Amino acid sequence: MTSSTVPHASAIDNADVEAAYARWAPVYDLTFALVMRPGRVAAAAAASRPGGRVLDVGVGTGLELPMFDPATRLTGVDLSRPMLARARERVKTQALVNVEGLVVMDAMRLAFADATFDAVVAPYVLTVVPDPQASLDEWARVVKPGGEIVLVNHVGAERGSLAGIEAWLGRRSAKLGWHPQFPFAVIADWIAGQPNMTLIERRPLAPFGLFTLTRIAKAAV
Ligand SMILES: C[S@@+](CC[C@H](N)C(=O)[O-])C[C@H]1O[C@@H](n2cnc3c(N)ncnc32)[C@H](O)[C@@H]1O
Repeated sequence: MTSSTVPHASAIDNADVEAAYARWAPVYDLTFALVMRPGRVAAAAAASRPGGRVLDVGVGTGLELPMFDPATRLTGVDLSRPMLARARERVKTQALVNVEGLVVMDAMRLAFADATFDAVVAPYVLTVVPDPQASLDEWARVVKPGGEIVLVNHVGAERGSLAGIEAWLGRRSAKLGWHPQFPFAVIADWIAGQPNMTLIERRPLAPFGLFTLTRIAKAAV
């Protein structure tokens, strides 16, 4: 099966991501804390596993960390040191004792053994990573059988003026550090190619259905 790709996008690589988020880090919370809050709340609710281990990939400044059930043992990874520095500060000031580690790591090449986590959660990350399908492969590898991958991201408009704006922005993906145009088919095609992964929920989120919660279950055996 051929997988869907992101249309009209200029390629993003890890160096683009690091450069973009070094720029975003000082103003990230101010810019994105409120508008993307409903997605983080929904992702944390779906991925919380009291007593279990959850991996937050692309944890950024850690805005979602206080939203998990406090008995969930969290590990966060991110490519961007300036973003992670803010997450570490948050863990300290809010005394988030359930956060077991915040590590610089590539979401597409995780240094964890197979089946380490009860869930992997990625709020607002799949449209940012250079290779979404390779990332999903890796996240599926580290989830235990019976576990879940929980995603929140913007799914691109398919028609209308918003689609035109997103296509224009898409040609500037590398500079922005994310793909504004991101068809759901990227996720759906990946799931279709995985015999042990099933879509269990796809739900539009506030504000205005701009973001989508996607839950993917890994078969128990
Ligand atoms: C839009 S931010 C989301 C941060 C956080 N999850 C939130 O909800 O605010 C995307 C994050 O993904 C990280 N990221 C992008 N590509 C990555 C990769 N290949 N490996 C690890 N982190 C990556 C970026 O550095 C950035 O911190």
